[in-house]
Amino acid sequence: MASLIPRPWLLSQEQQNPAVATGRRLRWGMVSTGSIVQKVSADLALLQDAELYAVSSRSQQSADTFASGHGFSLGYGDDGGIPGYRRMVEDPEVDVVYVGTPHAQHYEVARAALEAGKPVLVEKALTINAREAESLVSLAREKGLFLMEAMWSRFLPSMQRAFEIARSGELGTVQWISADLGFPAPANPDARIWARKDGGGALLDLSVYPLLWPLGILGFPDSVVARGTLTDQGVDAQNLLSLGYSGGAQAGLNSSLVAHGPGNVVVAGDQGVLQTFGSVNNPKELHIRTGWSDTRVESFETVGTGYSYELREVTRCIQQGLTESPTMPWSDSVDVMRLFDGVRAQLGVTYPNDEH
Ligand SMILES: NC(=O)c1ccc[n+]([C@@H]2O[C@H](COP(=O)([O-])OP(=O)(O)OC[C@H]3O[C@@H](n4cnc5c(N)ncnc54)[C@H](OP(=O)(O)O)[C@@H]3O)[C@@H](O)[C@H]2O)c1
Repeated sequence: MASLIPRPWLLSQEQQNPAVATGRRLRWGMVSTGSIVQKVSADLALLQDAELYAVSSRSQQSADTFASGHGFSLGYGDDGGIPGYRRMVEDPEVDVVYVGTPHAQHYEVARAALEAGKPVLVEKALTINAREAESLVSLAREKGLFLMEAMWSRFLPSMQRAFEIARSGELGTVQWISADLGFPAPANPDARIWARKDGGGALLDLSVYPLLWPLGILGFPDSVVARGTLTDQGVDAQNLLSLGYSGGAQAGLNSSLVAHGPGNVVVAGDQGVLQTFGSVNNPKELHIRTGWSDTRVESFETVGTGYSYELREVTRCIQQGLTESPTMPWSDSVDVMRLFDGVRAQLGVTYPNDEH
């Protein structure tokens, strides 16, 4: 896989306070009433130029309960064979759609939103495979509509700062990176995190986060070697990705749904080392040691849980007529899905979506 030059992901100062309005008010329509939609809705409520307008669910009752409990004006449930999300995306009052369904439904729901003329923010991983990702991108391009994968960590000040330090030369030449994310997921095999039909497994759910570190610092790798442990359903309970770069750098990434991971990151250069402990996707402290000198600690606080930064970016881009975010460009999402397709081929993981 070709190595890309890392992009300038750093945000301007004015973008660092996500609550402050950047333009006209947007009315949001949220797809699903699951766990992440609850969290993202709480952060959305912090944005001065966001209106919590509608939520859709497979059940009208769930949509109504969620809407009244989280400050939305109305709920759309499945009705007469028409999915709630299809009814919602056709509502002319909806300015932007957020997709918080399991992975296997991302493509279908995002496609429906784009076809209805709506900009869309889609949870990670963008789709099940690269073919679906390419198809969404080409539809967004054809329609001239905004599309973004909800890789919220890219927009966090702490993450942006870590990339800035690593790319500034302060650590010298970065030679290796390690990062992990893991927790024992509930054992229910029907839960979306395990279910093959839903796009379950550690790769699509977790690996996007450890992968973000080498992508932000070294760009896309030239080679990837994967090892994984598969469940009875054939999804990866855990995986280990070994990334190689033509310049000699390497990265080792662990993702696990069966063990507690420390959530640590090491970025090791020939002049120094940067570390963060306990949260690979939302670092609160960066520990930087140059040479053999004392360690400097930089601390960070987030507005809300941390989703407010990506929500600001979506809002700003739509207000300014952009179809993609410079910080989370379409090509990165497609390239990540290509990388994951290659990893799945090595692990022997397939999903029903791959067949149609
Ligand atoms: N950014 C983050 O920090 C973060 C964290 C966790 C998860 N995620 C991502 O968010 C997505 C959802 O994860 P989650 O943890 O929120 O899952 P979840 O709690 O299981 O919620 C998913 C929701 O999607 C709907 N749904 C379930 N099966 C469906 C189906 N077959 N067709 C259509 N809709 C279906 C359900 O809502 P209704 O019953 O209302 O239809 C369900 O509550 C995944 O892409 C995941 O990777 C992101």
